[in-house]
Parts: sequence; C-alpha cells; structure tokens
Amino acid sequence: MKTAKFCRLSTGDMQILPGSRYRPPMKKPMWIVVLVSVVAVFLTCAYLFRPQNSTDCNMFSSRGCNTFSDWLPPIPSRDYTDEEIAAHVVFRDILNSPVVMPPNPKVAFMFLTPGSLPFEKLWDNFFQGHEGKFSVYVHASQTKPVHVSRYFVNRDIRSDQVIWGKMSMVEAERRLLANALQDPNNQHFVLLSDSCVPLYNFDYIFDYLMYTNISFVDCFWDPGPVGNSGRYSEHMLPEVELKDFRKGAQWFSLKRKHALIVMADHVYYSKFQAHCEPGVDGKNCIPDEHYLPTFFTIVDPGGIANWSVTHVDWSEQKWHPKSYRAQDITYELLKNITSIDESVHVTSDEKKEVQIWPCLWNGIQKPCYLFARKFSPDTEDNLLKLFSNYTSA
Ligand SMILES: *[C@@H]1O[C@H](CO)[C@@H](O)[C@H](O)[C@H]1NC(C)=O
Ligand SMILES: *[C@@H]1O[C@H](CO)[C@@H](O)[C@H](O)[C@H]1NC(C)=O
Ligand SMILES: *[C@@H]1O[C@H](CO)[C@@H](O)[C@H](O)[C@H]1NC(C)=O
Ligand SMILES: *[C@@H]1O[C@H](CO)[C@@H](O)[C@H](O)[C@H]1NC(C)=O
Repeated sequence: MKTAKFCRLSTGDMQILPGSRYRPPMKKPMWIVVLVSVVAVFLTCAYLFRPQNSTDCNMFSSRGCNTFSDWLPPIPSRDYTDEEIAAHVVFRDILNSPVVMPPNPKVAFMFLTPGSLPFEKLWDNFFQGHEGKFSVYVHASQTKPVHVSRYFVNRDIRSDQVIWGKMSMVEAERRLLANALQDPNNQHFVLLSDSCVPLYNFDYIFDYLMYTNISFVDCFWDPGPVGNSGRYSEHMLPEVELKDFRKGAQWFSLKRKHALIVMADHVYYSKFQAHCEPGVDGKNCIPDEHYLPTFFTIVDPGGIANWSVTHVDWSEQKWHPKSYRAQDITYELLKNITSIDESVHVTSDEKKEVQIWPCLWNGIQKPCYLFARKFSPDTEDNLLKLFSNYTSA
C-alpha cells in the first residue's frame, strides 16, 4: 500500500506541470531537465515497486498491473533466490570457460537398458578399430547384462531401478553422466537405449558430435495437454515459469560443459523432483521429457540444437513409437531415415501446429540423425548384413 501511495504522489507532481506553462517562458535546457527528472522518477518508481509475481499483481487493480508491465523495459521479472544466484554463477562460469580439448578426446556412449543389450554384436562391429576414441557405460536397471562384446565387458555402472515416466529415469541418466564425467577425455556424452542402433560408421558420428559446440537436446514449445497445459504445475514457481517450460524426447547428446551444468544443478532438478509424479493429481509431468529441455531453455537456450540425433518414428500416432521388425530392415528404410534433414515437431493441442526446422550443423544443413530406435532384437542379423552398406555412405 505504501507502494501505491508513493507512486500516486509522483503522478500528482506531474499534474502541476501544465500550470508552469503560464509562467515566464522557461529556458529549453530547464524544460528538458524537468521532463527527464519526471520520467526518471516514474521509471524508478515503476521499477522499485514493480509487481513481484502474480499475487502482488492482484493487489493492484488488473489495469494497473498491465500498465506497469507495458511501461517497463525488459528487466528481470523478479529477484532470484539466493540458491538461484549461486547456481547461475556456477553455470555461467562453466559455460564461459574456454573448451580445452584433451589430446585424446573421446565420445562416451551411455546405454540405458533393463538388462542385456540385443545389439552388442552390431556395436562391436561399429567400435572395432576405433579404440581410444570412445568409452562405454551401461546402466542396467533390472538384470545384470550378459556381454558378448569385449567393449561392453566390465562397463556396467552401479545402477538402480528405473520406472518409465518417473524421476528415477532422470536419476539414471545423471548416474551415467557422473560416471562418464570421471574420465576427463570424454568430451561428448550420448544417451542410448537397448533398442538404438547407429546409422553411420564411427568416424562420421565421432566428427559430427565432436566438432560442434552444440548439444543435441530435443526441445520444443507444446501448449497442449501432453505439454504445458497438462504437465506444467504452478508449484514449480518461481524458478520454473510456464514461459520456459519445454518438451522433448529424452535421448540427448551433451557437450562436456553441458553435462557438467546438469551435474551442478540442484535448483531446477529439485523442482522437478518435487512436482513430477505421474499418476498423482497436479503432478502430471514426465520428468525425462521436460527437465532437460526446460533446464537448457532457462540456462543456455542457444547451446542446444533443439532436436535429438536419435530418430524415432511416431507417424503411427500411437502411445508408443513404431518398433521395426526383421522384415522392415531394408536398405531403403535406412536411406529414408538418414536422408531426413529437417526436424519436425507437432503440438498436442487441437491446432496440431507443425514446427519444422532445418537441421543446421555449424550453420550447414545436414542429416539430423546419427542413431535410430526402436529396433526389436530380431532385426540384428539383417542389420549386420546391411551394416557395411549403410555405414559407408
Ligand atoms: C567451439 O568453441 C571454441 C571456443 O570455445 C572455438 O574455438 C571453436 O572454433 C568452436 N567450434 C566450432 C565448431 O564452432
Ligand atoms: C533452440 O531454440 C531456442 C529457443 O527455444 C533458441 O533460442 C536457440 O537459438 C535454438 N538453438 C539453435 C541452435 O538454433
Ligand atoms: C521411404 O520414403 C519414401 C518416400 O517418402 C516412401 O514412399 C517409402 O515408403 C519409404 N520406404 C520405407 C521402407 O520406409
Ligand atoms: C548395398 O548397396 C547397393 C547400392 O548402393 C545395392 O546394390 C546392394 O544390393 C546393397 N547390398 C545389400 C547387401 O543390401
């Protein structure tokens, strides 16, 4: 209330102004000084007593609230909490540090799987001859995997149960990142599932990931029921605002600096931890689809590509994406997937807005996808037969 009174006083001062016209003509500089002071007082008042959040907004009349926000220059809409200030200092320092490439940079391939990996033979084929340029990590959430490839033996990390759509999924992703970050040579971190296969040979994938400063995190604005309107909760305020809430598939690939800020984050992570619990009323968000896209939108929106390098086919519009069977595996199918050079997102509201962006790699339009899912285990023989063919392109 003190706020409103102070502001009204200064408006009162303004009303005196017209009277001054009838005084002996004021010198021009004086006019400017008065005008500038009045504007400055108004802006200062507006800035100091700007509405802090929607509750404060309601204390003013709704018209007053609009007037304020319309007049204000784009300043931070609120003060950060102590925790946010601390977190952002750390994020900024990590993001601004120059990238020092180790002499032997590696890509970390992080597999999230319930148990044994059906495509180890295929991956073995893929990795062969590239020792020293990759490392493998396996998070098996249900049963201890039986490994058939030497590249996978002894690469299981300590793991825990994962429930689809729950925070345990994001916890497993962070566990993989933490393990992979221990090796300073790992410069890029790819999350893969047991049903993922590579679409190119090792060198192509290595160069694509290593020689860019961008992380490939799927991210788009979906106002619909399986996006912001159904999954955002105002309990995430003030740290997570609706305008920053995003959606995307979980299959990320991160630069080292981005993996580090994900590790350093407690502020946003704890918000998702507290307010995402599918099945509980008002906590309907699926953390693995929203946490990372939203986090990067707040912290480093220009640092992510907004599409995932892992292809998946949702064209059947079912609850689960298309799963390829042995008879689907043809040269044509793989060529079709590797020829896609635009990323497509469709909103879940009744407008079904289609968002299409070219896949730009260091400013050049390139094929979007390096990996693809979901392949059922019976496809391995056909994939192995085709492998030398499709990976040579
Ligand atoms: C990535 O960033 C570094 C500086 O941190 C710069 O030297 C390098 O040229 C960038 N690479 C690309 C491909 O943009
Ligand atoms: C990704 O989208 C954000 C907006 O959400 C944009 O600021 C950013 O530039 C985009 N990234 C790239 C690499 O274009
Ligand atoms: C490949 O793409 C073409 C053109 O979109 C389509 O007609 C064909 O059915 C696709 N083939 C496979 C195997 O997906
Ligand atoms: C490999 O690709 C060529 C065309 O580039 C095709 O003629 C050949 O049949 C393919 N091999 C297999 C095993 O599919």
